[in-house]
Amino acid sequence: EDAAQLARFEARVADEERIEPNDFMPAAYRRTLTRQISQHAHSEIIGMQPEGNWITRAPSLRRKAALLAKVQDECGHGLYLYAAAETLGTSREELVEQLLSGKAKYSSIFNYPTLTWADMGAIGWLVDGAAIMNQIPLCRCSYGPYARAMIRVCKEESFHQRQGYEIMLTLARGTAEQKEMAQDALNRWWWPSLMMFGPPDAASSHSDSSMRWKIKRFSNDELRQKFVDATVPQAHFIGLTLPDPDLTFDEAAGHWRYGTIDWEEFKQVIAGNGPCNRDRMATRRKAHEDGAWVREAARAFAEKRAAAKTA
Ligand code: 3HC
Repeated sequence: EDAAQLARFEARVADEERIEPNDFMPAAYRRTLTRQISQHAHSEIIGMQPEGNWITRAPSLRRKAALLAKVQDECGHGLYLYAAAETLGTSREELVEQLLSGKAKYSSIFNYPTLTWADMGAIGWLVDGAAIMNQIPLCRCSYGPYARAMIRVCKEESFHQRQGYEIMLTLARGTAEQKEMAQDALNRWWWPSLMMFGPPDAASSHSDSSMRWKIKRFSNDELRQKFVDATVPQAHFIGLTLPDPDLTFDEAAGHWRYGTIDWEEFKQVIAGNGPCNRDRMATRRKAHEDGAWVREAARAFAEKRAAAKTA
């Protein structure tokens, strides 16, 4: 890459111009976007499993229909994001292989078990709530295809968050046992939701370049704080208690101060030693093997059609 091209690229990003697939971009910009967008896609696809486990056990037809729609949406988000990642030059097969071989990451949050129906509420409310905080700024990402995919994703996420919060509200206002279920789910999903935003800024290896290239508009800690400030009052509104004895409101700063996050747990989970990592990957690998015949059929059909065209 020559200096003039790099300078022109930096100026375009500084001027808030969108970078498109055929534009010049530094190899490192292409690499970090391929990494982030494909891992985002992997997260959406793996994220179908924890919720998928409860579709057949939803307490009513209405709840089942909403959960089914949400899981189908997650799959669609994954496909938009693989399509966006492919515009950077790596094939979908290669991206999927990186997931199946364990080389690529997916969001830590999906390595926790969904033990009761209340977990469907906690996931919609907290996990999709956190995802919205993270994805709205990505609508203004400097890379065109990613930003456009995010605009479509964000429209559906608000429904996901609302249906989750409604489940929690219904349970919290139900019998004592239902309220206890909601409280238990909050206790188990709160801290892993805070970890979703990534390591503390001081330990974030990509933030400097991602912020300079306007991929990341806010730091991990800034978005985490926005999420806590928005979510604590929602928990109070439905009469649930946050599992953080150090949580206090800092009047002067206007922020909720929270306790220490267990980064050792986070490290273990992204190293593959979380509660469900092996199950999630085994299920994903089996789905890939079970779907091999569909890929072969599609390839044979495409070859036959191409041969007919040239005949
Ligand atoms: N889970 C797994 N890995 C994580 C992580 C998490 N929660 N947070 C950070 N990491 C990894 C990073 O990928 C990076 O490792 P890598 O170099 O192998 O990719 C390392 O930890 C250092 O973290 P950084 O902060 O330096 O990395 P980033 O600058 O990429 O920031 C991020 C991390 C904020 C997650 C950013 O990648 C991002 O915004 N990604 C897009 C959003 C996303 O992936 N969301 C996943 C949630 S799934 C979802 O939203 C579905 C919803 O519908 C429920």
